Amino acid sequence: MKDTRLQARLRRFGLSLAMVTAGLASVGCPAAPTPPPDGDADVIFPENYRTAFTLVRDCRNSVEHEAQIRVYVNAVGAADYLADAATLPEGTMVVKEEFAPGGGCDDADLEFWSAMRKEAAGFDEAASDWRFQEVSAPVRAITTDDNATCLECHFDPACLVRDLMCTAP
Ligand code: HEC
Repeated sequence: MKDTRLQARLRRFGLSLAMVTAGLASVGCPAAPTPPPDGDADVIFPENYRTAFTLVRDCRNSVEHEAQIRVYVNAVGAADYLADAATLPEGTMVVKEEFAPGGGCDDADLEFWSAMRKEAAGFDEAASDWRFQEVSAPVRAITTDDNATCLECHFDPACLVRDLMCTAP
């Protein structure tokens, strides 16, 4: 046996080969890194919005910032959104994709989602009961979850008449 001499030497020190091997394993390779979380449980829109929702505003330049955007709305509110309705129904979810400037709307350039979800009456009356959220792509980590940060521009008169929707047709 190849290990006999080593085993004999170890035995003199009251050690076994198994103990040494276990020790080496624990200091050897670092543990595999924890993979990024696949989505935050509190994100207010589903991962499959692209197939489940209606594309209401196709790829275009943003007025708000240097970026390309695209807007999707779920079945609850899509028709009303497209009709510029004064009030969108409870349960409406609106997702704006934000891409790095310069390109088109390629997946590789997707940086953020800005989303709004219409909550039950009384959630935030001043905000027409919308809940605003900004989420970074692609891991779906929430970066803003607070109406006060988002509301101001959405109170623009042009948005107010469409229940705070701002993207021009
Ligand atoms: C500086 C002004 C401004 C701020 C602040 C702002 N928005 Fe907007 N938002 C706009 C404009 C303008 C549009 C129209 C689309 C565009 O040009 O990007 C828009 C569009 C949207 C849309 C697409 C629906 C629609 O038609 O309005 C969503 C969803 C949205 N914003 C969410 C958010 C969230 C969430 C925040 C806070 C993290 C936020 N917005 C903060 C100006 C703003």
